[in-house]
Amino acid sequence: MSSKNKLRIAVLASGGGTNLQSIIDQCQQGTLDAEIDLVICNNPDAGALDRAKKAGIRTVCINHRDFSQRKDFDQAVVTTLQEAGVELIVLAGFMRIISSVFLAAFPQRIINIHPALLPSFPGLHVQQKAIDYGAKFSGCTVHFVDDGVDTGAIIAQAVVPIHNDDTEETLSSRILEQEHKIYPQVIQWFAENRIVSDGRQVTIKSAQQSGNTLTNPLAE
Ligand code: GRF
Repeated sequence: MSSKNKLRIAVLASGGGTNLQSIIDQCQQGTLDAEIDLVICNNPDAGALDRAKKAGIRTVCINHRDFSQRKDFDQAVVTTLQEAGVELIVLAGFMRIISSVFLAAFPQRIINIHPALLPSFPGLHVQQKAIDYGAKFSGCTVHFVDDGVDTGAIIAQAVVPIHNDDTEETLSSRILEQEHKIYPQVIQWFAENRIVSDGRQVTIKSAQQSGNTLTNPLAE
């Protein structure tokens, strides 16, 4: 596919950027028909900035501490995104709440990945919360961003078991492995124009439905 046909995306990150890396890798391998036009970080120390630079992607650091009001920070981000002309905004560990200024500029065009099976465990430190709760499964959710915290319509989910001896680290890494698969997949569905959204109901044209039912512990 030639570059002009690729979905133009921006990735917004605050941290290490392993999800960004999985998107970069799939773009480079040609399994994702998208191009990352820019990476925006609110944190100058974000590892995501190094990953983007290494891949030759334009980076912009907009430090939220330089703004006294959230809406001004968001406006600066929106202006940067609009000038870049991107079609999809991919939040990948972006630790800022998105305000109405931002949402209004990109309706149905901002997606996020969350390391739990929403609507269970929204917010922060959710891997530890799932362990503490005694849940037997967790996973990750890709969803549209709306004006709530992790409340937008769900696009795709992946499920992982929680093991008896799991720590926050082991569960996080099991979930991240799935994040690195489903996030590029969802972006590819956007690139193929296959996402159909009707309120909370989001479907993917011609996607196969999962036939798997899981129990944990395994039924004997
Ligand atoms: C991921 O667990 C993602 O689900 C959450 O933030 C984390 C980002 O990790 N929103 P990374 O920076 O992509 O490694």
